[in-house]
Amino acid sequence: MGVEIHVEGLRKSFGRQVIWEDVSFTIPAGEISALLGPSGTGKSVFLKNLVGLLRPDRGHIYVGGGDVPRLRESDLYEMRRKFGVLFQDGALFGSMNVYDNIAFPLREHTRKGESEIRRIVLEKMEMVGLTGAEEKLPGEISGGMKKRAGLARALVLDPEVILADEPDSGLDPVRTSYLNQLFVDVNAELGATFLIVTHDIGTARVLPDNLGLLFRRSLVMFGPREMVLSSTHPAVSQFFNARRQGPIGMAEEKDLAEMENEGPPVTTMPAPIPPQLMPSDGSVRPAMRRPGEWLRAHRVKPPPGSFIDDQGRNWLTEWDSLTAGRQRPR
Ligand SMILES: Nc1ncnc2c1ncn2[C@@H]1O[C@H](COP(=O)(O)OP(=O)(O)O)[C@@H](O)[C@H]1O
Ligand SMILES: [Mg+2]
Repeated sequence: MGVEIHVEGLRKSFGRQVIWEDVSFTIPAGEISALLGPSGTGKSVFLKNLVGLLRPDRGHIYVGGGDVPRLRESDLYEMRRKFGVLFQDGALFGSMNVYDNIAFPLREHTRKGESEIRRIVLEKMEMVGLTGAEEKLPGEISGGMKKRAGLARALVLDPEVILADEPDSGLDPVRTSYLNQLFVDVNAELGATFLIVTHDIGTARVLPDNLGLLFRRSLVMFGPREMVLSSTHPAVSQFFNARRQGPIGMAEEKDLAEMENEGPPVTTMPAPIPPQLMPSDGSVRPAMRRPGEWLRAHRVKPPPGSFIDDQGRNWLTEWDSLTAGRQRPR
């Protein structure tokens, strides 16, 4: 169901300000990927390039055959239907109730009748846990509900790719956990490709199959979660372990004098890799890899204490019994 996104040699600037360059990577089909980076590193600009709202200076974005920056306006319109986008605040229309907000893309982009629309809207509302909130106005519901309504709206056209820009910003930790669980459940059910921009490292450590970091005008690293979470690359390990020491400062980048004051870089052990969030029905998503698989294949020792869950179970040794008979077919 999901499609792969292949980005090659992408560069974007505004006037003389280069936002990022030489960005090349592949977002795997049907997997959950997360893109992180300090504020102002161009994460939102990247998402806008993917859907053709902004045009890169150079480079390619291949999505299901087409190269987004080179599509004609009419083809771009078609291409955008492959995407469901969840903006930061849900971006709901304030004067429309939740039902009409979610129905909006169907009324705008399809010729479906109202009874068909009703079936789809109610199905997506149930999926995100909003049943019963049809008549509410955006001003009358909580931040978490707005995000879920935004997600339901992003889902109604059955997108192959779901993009979310800081869906967890402004949510408390408990609501963030619920939203992350919802992403995992929706991915398990629909198999769409997810790209989630976040700067919540709690989210980054448990949710995605792949992680990327934008820093100093480039994509420093992108790859499977075990690769990134076990990395000792200075910026990567500083960011994903939320440490003060390292190349990332209060301002977007520390200046060199400040870094010299810190003395030589210390190699610190990455924090334990937590078990990955599972769908709430206990099934295993096709994109989910066996814990420790990447580490073993690359002869990297897991950081001590990795893969132990809050019930004390060790996912490295107990994976087979934890997941017996629960693989979802691809
Ligand atoms: N339309 C635009 N015109 C000019 N500069 C922009 C535009 N959009 C974003 N920028 C600049 O690009 C940089 C990256 O912005 P953004 O993608 O919003 O960062 P992030 O989402 O990582 O916090 C910022 O310096 C911002 O001011
Ligand atoms: Mg942003």
